[in-house]
Amino acid sequence: MRDLILDTDIGVDDAYALRLALLTGRLLGVTTTYGNESIDKTTKNAKLSLRKWQCQDVGVCRGASQPLVKPRIISDGHIFGQDGLGDHYENPETPDAPDAISYIVNCARERPGEITLATIGPLTNLALALNLEPRLPSLLRQVISMGGAFGKNGHTGNMTHFAEFNIYCDPHAAEQVFAAPFNHVLIPIDMTHDVIIDEQEMKAYQDDFLYNISLFYLDFSEKYEKFRGMCVHDALTLVYFEHPEFFEETRTPIAVSTAGITLGQTHRRLSSYQSIPDDVMRGRPEHTVILNGDVKAIKEFMLERMLGGKA
Ligand code: RIB
Ligand code: CA
Repeated sequence: MRDLILDTDIGVDDAYALRLALLTGRLLGVTTTYGNESIDKTTKNAKLSLRKWQCQDVGVCRGASQPLVKPRIISDGHIFGQDGLGDHYENPETPDAPDAISYIVNCARERPGEITLATIGPLTNLALALNLEPRLPSLLRQVISMGGAFGKNGHTGNMTHFAEFNIYCDPHAAEQVFAAPFNHVLIPIDMTHDVIIDEQEMKAYQDDFLYNISLFYLDFSEKYEKFRGMCVHDALTLVYFEHPEFFEETRTPIAVSTAGITLGQTHRRLSSYQSIPDDVMRGRPEHTVILNGDVKAIKEFMLERMLGGKA
């Protein structure tokens, strides 16, 4: 039964998530957003990736080209290359596609309670879909998102000291989404920074496309981190989709800073005291935040899946 939609700003770690999504056999469609790159490039990248994996029966829909309020962050290509996929392959794909927002809403309306949406870029598309269909939280089965930073395990922001990239791209969208009663699981860099794949592990996946698009980032990582490896942030949403038992779940409301020096910072309720004034948290729905997980089990599952195993 195909019951998963992947919303992506497909860059390199997104491609690992897309591969895992395809290997579940449950991927219904892909929706694209700006983020790592422009909406034109991410839409072309999604189409190229599906073609490289000889996947003709999963459609691509095109979403938001910019955030709700703040200007779009323009990438300089130093992490994932100018095209967002490591500048390795020519990409003859076109950037046009059907509208992503209506696609998400229509799928949820047609199959209430059945569809899971995994978001691995800014939350702009989900916020726009919520504005289009206010019943969306009750129509989607679950939303699993990569994003946020709560300072656990020493992991603070990766865009600023406070903010993680996906949330920082559109904090207003994130604030709207987390204030809504979605069955929402958020996997922040507190967790994703603990799952690093080195070059040998990438080669073990025996996926030439994934390895080739990763080379640009591996060179960047070697130059600045003295290590050839990558945090596969986005892939963890798909690991959770199939094996939530690998992860430690914390229930908490989530608030997002939408101004000032902490712009894009995600806040959770802390057991000993509120990280922000209690009145901001009061009345907010609780969501699930993943701060820890079984890294060994996560990596073993990813390898088995990439090798075509049914883990
Ligand atoms: O902070 C990590 C996130 O930012 C990932 O989704 C990665 O693809 C980048 O978009
Ligand atoms: Ca991403």
